[in-house]
Amino acid sequence: MIEKTANLSNLFKEKAAAAASSAELEQLRIEFLGKKGYVAELMNDLRNIPNEQKKEAGQLINEVKKFIESEIQNRNREILKAEELRLVEQAESYDESMPVDINSGSYHPITLVQREVEEIFKTMGFAVEDYYEITDDYNCFEALNIPKHHPARDMQDTYYLSTGQLLKTHTSAAQNTILRKYAKNLEQGNPIRAIFPGRCFRNEKIDACHENTFFQMEGIMVDKDISISNLIYFMKTMLSEVFQQDITVRLRPGFFPFVEPGFELDIQCTICKGKGCPSCKDSGWLELCPCGMIHPNVLTAAGIDPEKYIGFAFGLGMTRLAMMTYGVKDIRVFNSGSLKALSQFTEKSFTVPEESKEA
Ligand code: DAH
Repeated sequence: MIEKTANLSNLFKEKAAAAASSAELEQLRIEFLGKKGYVAELMNDLRNIPNEQKKEAGQLINEVKKFIESEIQNRNREILKAEELRLVEQAESYDESMPVDINSGSYHPITLVQREVEEIFKTMGFAVEDYYEITDDYNCFEALNIPKHHPARDMQDTYYLSTGQLLKTHTSAAQNTILRKYAKNLEQGNPIRAIFPGRCFRNEKIDACHENTFFQMEGIMVDKDISISNLIYFMKTMLSEVFQQDITVRLRPGFFPFVEPGFELDIQCTICKGKGCPSCKDSGWLELCPCGMIHPNVLTAAGIDPEKYIGFAFGLGMTRLAMMTYGVKDIRVFNSGSLKALSQFTEKSFTVPEESKEA
């Protein structure tokens, strides 16, 4: 028995040296120190040996057990170190001069649609502006004439941070900042024209039609004699460019605290041309974009005199527009991170710029 115990240390040493991973080492631990392992077996054997040998054998088994435990730790350290070295070597062996197939990547479908819409608005004199994803109650609600008790302020709909700030629930949250930024245009006799695309967040249950993270594009135009016909003209021109065909639009009344009057802008179904089909649920129209004439309180909050100036605003659902453009039925695909799924939606009008092709 004493010999058997002494041999166990050597056997473990041999097997541990051959273990190539922490998982293999764990298997060995179970094999040697587990409930039915070799050491437990030796402990059982203790019962069958003469009493005068028991003490020595018991001590020996304990020593072997301690030896195995410390060997496991040592070997594990060696294995982790070797793995780390392997990763460093792998990173260092990266060859920067390797030719790259630059056409293998693809832009996200929302980026593609967003860029296209941006280009169209730029040709109409609109500036493209960026805005934060984290903002505050003032910009997201207060400055937009949204009263304190409005359901949009509810914890159910808005993600509040522990700092008291919040994740913007709509791109309208940038209106006050952008209006202030360009207010000097008005004094100089020029209009304010800006679009501001961005990611928005709402505390929604996610399913095929709802997301808690989605994209919008807000647009504003302010000048001296702006009317609802300017709004209709801009929306019709822009949407006809996006869908590459003459688009018919209609306005229905809609309520949003930051516009007066407010509208829901529908486009005539591009598939059935208004006759009614499954795509437009037989109505002939598709709801696309809420909009309206900017409320005087919103202009005042931005330091603009509503007696002198007037404007329109719209909030285009970019995620929805991308769904329509590419015929996507399940909104979840956009945030899925699945390159396989997302790379299907590239062909629309995207081409690799010439200068990148040469790189
Ligand atoms: N911010 C609104 C929302 O996300 C959409 C909206 C409605 C934007 C009317 C506008 C507007 O600019 O005029 O629900």
